[in-house]
Amino acid sequence: MSEAHFERFYALGKEIIEHPLYQSQKSFIHHTHTLFDHAVYVAYYSYCLAHKWKLKEASVVRGALLHDFFLYDWRADGKRIKKRGLKKHGFTHARTAHRNALEHFELNRLEEDIILKHMFPLNLKPPKHKESWLVNLVDSWVTLREYHKKPINPQLLAFLDKKNSSHSF
Ligand SMILES: [Fe+2]
Ligand SMILES: [Fe+2]
Repeated sequence: MSEAHFERFYALGKEIIEHPLYQSQKSFIHHTHTLFDHAVYVAYYSYCLAHKWKLKEASVVRGALLHDFFLYDWRADGKRIKKRGLKKHGFTHARTAHRNALEHFELNRLEEDIILKHMFPLNLKPPKHKESWLVNLVDSWVTLREYHKKPINPQLLAFLDKKNSSHSF
C-alpha cells in the first residue's frame, strides 16, 4: 500500500490515534502484539476494504480503532481474578470498550454498532451494518495472524510512530 493510503487512513483516525489514552494502549500486550498495534491493524485493513467497497470509511476507521478500547491488561486481569462464564473478558470487553470510547470521543450510531458487535457471536446481537460485519471479520483475521506470529504491516507502525514523534515537539 502506498504512503498516500497511510496518510488518508491517518487523517481519518488522527483525533483518536494521537489521544494520550489511546497511545497508552502501547503498554498492553494483546495476543503477540500490543493492543495499540492490534487496533490500528484492524482499523487499517477495515479501512482498505471499506474504501474498495465504497462503505462509510470514516466511521469504519473510528469504530475499528476503538473496538478494543477496554484499557486494561486482560491477561494479567484474568490471572488475578478468576472470572467465570459471561463475566469473562471475551463476553464483556465490547461493552467496556464502548463505554470508554463514549467517555472520550463523540461517536455516531454506526461507530457504536461497530464496537458493540465486534465480538459476535460471543456477544449474541449480530452487527446491524455492513461496516460492522467488516470490522468483525477483519478483527478475526488480524487475531489469527497475531496468534500465528505472522508479520502484519510494520511499515504502518513505523509511519504512525513518525507521525507521533513529530507531534510531540
Ligand atoms: Fe475484541
Ligand atoms: Fe480485536
